[in-house]
Amino acid sequence: MAEDRSVSRRSFLTVATVAIGGVITAIMGIPAVAYIIGPALKKQSEQEWIPVGRASKVELGVPALFKVKIQRKAGWILNEQELSFYVLTEDGRDFIAMSNICTHLGCRARWVANEGIFFCPCHNGVFAKDGTVLGGPPPRPLDRVEVKVEDDQLFILGG
Ligand code: FES
Repeated sequence: MAEDRSVSRRSFLTVATVAIGGVITAIMGIPAVAYIIGPALKKQSEQEWIPVGRASKVELGVPALFKVKIQRKAGWILNEQELSFYVLTEDGRDFIAMSNICTHLGCRARWVANEGIFFCPCHNGVFAKDGTVLGGPPPRPLDRVEVKVEDDQLFILGG
């Protein structure tokens, strides 16, 4: 009888030890998990549609340059940043937006209307009007920016 009680007590202590260890692990683990995945969740939720101008400003088949200033908060510091990007539509309904930052080393590519190309002067990078690489060292097309139009107002997704 006494042995049963002893085994029972031992079992209880084992279960209690495991339970307390589990609680301590959970208490210490939650902040660690939040620390790891928090920034990713925060980044997604902070993205917002930013109005940038009139869609009717974009001529069919000709990339139009838009600039917008956005504020980014990094800890205590609030930075203002200017984004420049080209918007293109072939039919007035579907629009694409591309960063003008060259995918080689980050210089600014500019639209050369009489040649129908984007040209990056730093190392002679050449892109088609939809941003695909035509020549030079850029390793990939110009980066796309999500864009939408509502009541002739263009928005880009950023933040
Ligand atoms: S930075 Fe544009 S081609 Fe090198």
